[in-house]
Amino acid sequence: MIRSTRKFPSLPYFWSLIDWSLPSLNPYKGRLLRAQTIEDIAQIAKERTPEVVFDYVEGGAVDEIAYARTRNAFNRIEFNTRVMRDVSKIDTSEKILGKEVDIPICFAPTGYTRLMHHVGEPAVANVASKKNLIYALSTMGTTSPAELAEAVPNSRRWFQLYIMKNRSDSLAVIKQAKDNGFEALVLTVDTPVPGLRYRDNRNGLTVPPKIRLNTVFAIARKPIWWLNLFTTGKLEFAAFRGWDKPLSELGGLIFDPSTTMKEITWLRSVWKGPIIVKGVQSVEDAKAIAKLGVQGIILSNHGGRQFDRGQVPLEILPEVVKAVGNKVEIYIDGGIMSGLDALGAIALGAKAVFIGRAYLYGAMANGEAGVEQVIEIMRKEFENGMALSGATNIAEVRKNGARIRN
Ligand SMILES: Cc1cc2nc3c(=O)[nH]c(=O)nc-3n(C[C@H](O)[C@H](O)[C@H](O)COP(=O)(O)O)c2cc1C
Repeated sequence: MIRSTRKFPSLPYFWSLIDWSLPSLNPYKGRLLRAQTIEDIAQIAKERTPEVVFDYVEGGAVDEIAYARTRNAFNRIEFNTRVMRDVSKIDTSEKILGKEVDIPICFAPTGYTRLMHHVGEPAVANVASKKNLIYALSTMGTTSPAELAEAVPNSRRWFQLYIMKNRSDSLAVIKQAKDNGFEALVLTVDTPVPGLRYRDNRNGLTVPPKIRLNTVFAIARKPIWWLNLFTTGKLEFAAFRGWDKPLSELGGLIFDPSTTMKEITWLRSVWKGPIIVKGVQSVEDAKAIAKLGVQGIILSNHGGRQFDRGQVPLEILPEVVKAVGNKVEIYIDGGIMSGLDALGAIALGAKAVFIGRAYLYGAMANGEAGVEQVIEIMRKEFENGMALSGATNIAEVRKNGARIRN
């Protein structure tokens, strides 16, 4: 039998093993620093934000099946891994609309961002600016195009648009985008009518939040969030300030169920910059839209927040890229919760991915620093995935490729 030789313990060696750093007095700070994944960040976000707000971000439409399927598709990605390549230098940069971004991960438009964190849209755009990424501001943003441009003048910014019932209203917000240096319009087309958000209905979510008896208990549970809400600017749809219509009518005016593809041609005539169509969910529509003079398509089911039984964007991505990828840039969003999810979509042919919930979890957990941490986690996973799958740049990621397991 082999035995280990024992000796008298060495005090200096024992001493060198002791970690002398004091535990942080701020329990959140320590947990944030230890967060490894976006799920860890989401857990912290959940603890810091009222349930109704967290649920608004996390939830989907009806039975939330589309979102679950969207996530599941990413879990089934399998890279065509190549070994013994020199991966000592990794370049994650990519060109989007002809200009370089540091990594092909963009910030999707999300309405009402100041509900998640009091700084809201500028905090996210500032991370985009620092990291050389793209930020898309929602029509339903709580920061106006002018305020965003003023707060983060160097950010590369796109403006998300709905074709509204009155074209003059659409023109008014398009003008705000143009006057404030927005590079591209992102036309969302998966909202002819609002999705059915049962989770929000059950929670009694209203915009802005109403103060009821149970609000008192909610305040007691998340006092900092409420303090921030009450001590910072009014929560409002900032692009519509000065409207002579009540905000409660806004939803009805923003979604026009009679919208058809002719509106893309109309938009082309009033906006000379790039147009990206967001919310495409079939190969047929991608082919039709690519013929209309747009520059990009975002395959998206709105993160499962609209139609709860559409096709999973990732599953149609390779076919769409094959059909029209040489004419328009194909992006994708929905369910991207890690750098490996993002890398998988790129390997399947996407030009770039957009994230929504992931950065909102970061914002809810720790404002701008939380959003930055989300990007850093994703970047680490993305780079690590590139090296381990044998790709040194984005072109090689696509060349190596991936598949979705059955
Ligand atoms: C809280 C929230 C608000 C959103 N608001 C908008 C919006 O105003 N306009 C829009 O086009 N998409 C909106 N989206 C959809 C996102 O742009 C994006 O398609 C989706 O979040 C991607 O899925 P993911 O959250 O799983 O990353 C919203 C998403 C969330 C989570």
